[in-house]
Parts: sequence; C-alpha cells; structure tokens
Amino acid sequence: MSSRIWLLQFCLLQFYVSLLHAIPPPPVQCYGNGCTVDNYQGLWMDHIPCKAANVVYPTTEEELVKAMAEAVKCKQKMKVVSKWSHTLSKFVCPGGDDGLLISTRDYSTAMSVNQSAMTITANAGVQLRTLIDYAADFGLALPYTTYWDGVSVTGVVSTGAHGSGLWNKGSALHEYITAMRLAVPSTEEEGYVRIVSLTDVDEDLDAARVSLGVLGVILQVTFALHPMFKRSVSLEARADNLLEEDVLSFAQAHDFGDITWYPSIRKALYRLDDLVSVDSPGDGINKYQGFQGIPVAQIEQARRGEEFLEKTRNAATACKISEMLLNKRVSDGNGFLNDGSSFTGFPVVGFNHLMQASGGCQDSYSTKQHILTPTGVQSQSSCASQKDGIDEVLPDSAFCYWDPRINSSIFYQTAIAVSLSNISELILDIKKIRDIDPNGLCGLGLYGGIMLRYMKKSRAFLGINEDVVDIDFTYFRSRDANSPRLNGDVMERN
Ligand SMILES: Cc1cc2nc3c(=O)[nH]c(=O)nc-3n(C[C@H](O)[C@H](O)[C@H](O)COP(=O)(O)OP(=O)(O)OC[C@H]3O[C@@H](n4cnc5c(N)ncnc54)[C@H](O)[C@@H]3O)c2cc1C
Ligand SMILES: *[C@@H]1O[C@H](CO)[C@@H](O)[C@H](O)[C@H]1NC(C)=O
Ligand SMILES: *[C@@H]1O[C@H](CO)[C@@H](O)[C@H](O)[C@H]1NC(C)=O
Ligand SMILES: *[C@@H]1O[C@H](CO)[C@@H](O)[C@H](O)[C@H]1NC(C)=O
Repeated sequence: MSSRIWLLQFCLLQFYVSLLHAIPPPPVQCYGNGCTVDNYQGLWMDHIPCKAANVVYPTTEEELVKAMAEAVKCKQKMKVVSKWSHTLSKFVCPGGDDGLLISTRDYSTAMSVNQSAMTITANAGVQLRTLIDYAADFGLALPYTTYWDGVSVTGVVSTGAHGSGLWNKGSALHEYITAMRLAVPSTEEEGYVRIVSLTDVDEDLDAARVSLGVLGVILQVTFALHPMFKRSVSLEARADNLLEEDVLSFAQAHDFGDITWYPSIRKALYRLDDLVSVDSPGDGINKYQGFQGIPVAQIEQARRGEEFLEKTRNAATACKISEMLLNKRVSDGNGFLNDGSSFTGFPVVGFNHLMQASGGCQDSYSTKQHILTPTGVQSQSSCASQKDGIDEVLPDSAFCYWDPRINSSIFYQTAIAVSLSNISELILDIKKIRDIDPNGLCGLGLYGGIMLRYMKKSRAFLGINEDVVDIDFTYFRSRDANSPRLNGDVMERN
C-alpha cells in the first residue's frame, strides 16, 4: 500500500460519522469454570489473562454488601471493576485465579445534588457524562474532569485521574471529593462488612480519595461543585524552540491549558483554555473526533497502514502524517464546534460540561442499537451474558477506535509526573534525544503528540506531593508480544 493512500485513509478517520454505534464489549467474560477480566483494549500489558472465580453484578447496596460479606467470610480476594474497565494496568485483578469481581455495571445510578451546599453525590459506577450533565441541570459544574467522558466516577477517583490546570483545587477529580461512603471488610461480629462514611473533617478521607481500589468498595462519592461557567478554547501550533520556557508561564496564564508536543516535527500545539463568564456568548461543544464512533473499515485500514510503516521502518512517512494531522487539528477545530455543529474558528466558547470532556463511541446513538455476538447481530437487551467474539461485522457500524473485537488500534501509554521545577530540564533532555535521531519520535505524533498536563499538589496520601506536569506518551503497540517496535530504542531512552 502506498503511504499516500494511507495518508488519505488516516484523514478519513478524523471525520465524525453518524452511523450505527456498536457498544464496546463487556470486560468480564465467564465460562463454565471461571471468569476473565480484560481492560478496554482487550489485552493486558503482559499478555497474561486476568482470571477470577466469579463475578457479581449487584444492583443495590444491600446486594453488594451481601456478596462482599460472603467473600470476606471465605477469605476470598476481591476487586471492583466498572462496566468498561478503562484502566490499562492490572488493578482490577483480584489476585490469583479464585478471586471475586464486583462489577458496578448494573449498580443503581442514583445521584443527588445539594444546591445550597453545591455538591453532587453519585453512586458507584455512574458515568462521568451522566454526572456532569446532571450537575449542569442545576447550574453547577465540576471544574475539571478527564478528557474522556466514558469513565465511571468511582474508577476515575480510584486511579487519581485528572484534566489539566492549576486553577482552584487543581485538575484531579479526587481533590473535589467532600464525602465518601465505603464498604470495607470487617469481623464476623460486624457481619464481615462495615460501612464507613467519611467527610471533609476526617483525615481518613485523604487516604480514601485515591485508593487504587484496595481500600474496599466505594459505594458513593460526593464532589464539591462550582457555579456553572463557560470555557473559551483556542488551539495554536507554535514552533517548539521555546517550549522549555513556555511550559512554565503557560501554566500560570491559562486555567485549563495543556500542550501536546510533536518533538520530531519541532512543534507544539497549545490549548489556550480559560474560564469565562457564563454570560459570554457561545454555544460551543467539544466533540473530539478520536472519541466518536468510526466505521470499522476505516479503523482497520488505518491500523494496517500503521503496521505497514512499522514493518517497513518508515519513520519519515510517520513524520509527514503527524505534521499533517497536527495542522488539521488547528484548521478543523479538533472537534470543537462553535455552534454545536460546525467549526467556524477559534476561540470556541461553551458551557464547561460540554467543553471539558467528550465521548460518543461508548454510546449507541441509533435507535437500531446493535451489538455483535458470536452468532451475529442481536439487540442490546439480550447481550449481557454473551461470550465475546464476532462472526459478522456490520459494514456501516461505528466503533471506538480501540475496540478489541476488530483489528483496531492498540497502543501503549506511559505516563510520568515531573515537578514544575524540573520540567524544563526534561524537555531539553527530550530535545537532545530528538536531535540524535530526528525522525525517531514521529510515531508519537500519530497518537496526538506527547501530552503535557498540569496538576496541583494533592492532599490525597497517594496523590502527587508537588505541582507537576503529567506527561503522557502514547505509541504503537504490536499485537504480537515479540515484535520490536519502530524506534523502540528511542522511546526507551525517553
Ligand atoms: C479513551 C480514554 C481517555 C482517558 N482520558 C483520561 C484523562 O484525560 N485523564 C486521566 O487522568 N485519565 C484518563 N483515562 C484513564 C481513566 O481515567 C482511568 O483508567 C479510569 O480509572 C477509568 O475508569 P473506569 O471507570 O473504567 O475504571 P476501571 O478501569 O474499571 O477501574 C479502575 C480502578 O478503580 C477501581 N474501582 C473502580 N470502581 C471502584 C469502586 N466503586 N470502589 C473501589 N474501587 C473501584 C478498580 O478496582 C480499579 O483499580 C482515559 C482512559 C481512556 C480509555
Ligand atoms: C445540603 O447541605 C446543607 C449544607 O451543608 C445541609 O445543611 C443540608 O442538610 C443538605 N441537604 C440535604 C438534603 O442533604
Ligand atoms: C485481523 O487480521 C488478521 C490478519 O489480517 C485476521 O486473521 C483476523 O481474523 C482479523 N481479526 C479480526 C477480529 O478481524
Ligand atoms: C529537580 O530540580 C532540583 C532543583 O531545581 C534539583 O535539585 C533536583 O535534583 C532535580 N531533580 C531531578 C530528578 O532531576
């Protein structure tokens, strides 16, 4: 395949398409003799399946506590997993093959807003999009969230997930927690499970804010909200020659700014993202194209193209494509739509909850919801206990680009947090590595560049202990555990 054809295909991938959306596969599969749990890419880092003896899908606190009590009594290990299992690391594995998985898939999605206290309380497993939309109905906003709205609020706080910026309490969701309700293992006298309610005045809350899922089951979480505001967003591509200086001043200058860096093409994309008054004109939304459903054929074509570049060791073409993608992000708005349906130029101004996070491919937009099962296409309602695998792919159905049921994109993600006082030095080091092999880091551009996001010192015991830049490197991963990656050595040096 010529690289030019692939270039075209990659462009096509960027267009939002409104088709039948396939709901992502369930992460937990059970067979006669046990269960496995996957991450959302369907492949753990070590390629070793994660097993459990059984899974429960409690719908109420009572059911959950009962299942947990039985497991505590039998000294069975247990972990909670959301409906989606978005975390790449193996935190959800209960340990050994005979643990219990507690899924929040069917758990009550009850939420309540206290308008005088300006808080929202949500049950385990509530999807972030549902929460921020609900708060918005009351004129309230959660200042910062992850960029993907398909996560569960309990999964997000457990892993310390975040957006970007140093305003307010900072960009991590767990900083806004004012109360939590947990079920923790206990003695026989207490019925094996104890319910713990923590509020702002309990020091233990700072232990529970970020727990990696090991402090028990979070039943409910309460977040402090802010009166609704709007965001004004502009994207600007700049040469990266002053990046090591800009990275510090940019943090102070923008409430929610971030930077994506394309070292090999010597450019960085600055997201100028600021709080503006709720009265500011603008009905903008963020419909980031990467999170929309994409036709299967396009996803597979792009992946084949990427594998071809890897196989032919063609870093120069990867550079050309990443430069083109970067330019396109600025010229077409990167999913920011001024009036909710088209991009007419920056800045795009819109309500916080419609700008801070986006999604789409996790939902079914069409009334003709289809999911794919071993026997073909079935209606959504009958899918719950089906095994994975598909015989038939609807040609016009749209998937998340990482859906493991097709030959989709599969990638690594490496994240490091670097103190603001050391970030300039790190950028200079990466520039040195880049200069040794100028095309060596182009593959990063195919995944949107190195992402730099700001986080404030945390009060969580497992949080960060100073202001940092969180750096995400996303890059090609082979399905075959033994095949080396193009410029893998350059990435390792990073
Ligand atoms: C497309 C995409 C974009 C992303 N964007 C961002 C981003 O912008 N910023 C960012 O920081 N992260 C981001 N992430 C990472 C994501 O925020 C985390 O992986 C998050 O933990 C996923 O939540 P989940 O609901 O799928 O949780 P899971 O993966 O199911 O669970 C995560 C952890 O939380 C534990 N857990 C879940 N629920 C409970 C509960 N009720 N009680 C106790 N423990 C529990 C689990 O045991 C596990 O250890 C992104 C991920 C994806 C797939
Ligand atoms: C709402 O919050 C206020 C202030 O914290 C509190 O006094 C009140 O009891 C709360 N209301 C409800 C319904 O919980
Ligand atoms: C992916 O591609 C391989 C080889 O091209 C093929 O054998 C396999 O069936 C494909 N898998 C899916 C899920 O389409
Ligand atoms: C970070 O910077 C400080 C001084 O600003 C220095 O003392 C320290 O060694 C640096 N840390 C690393 C890991 O380079």
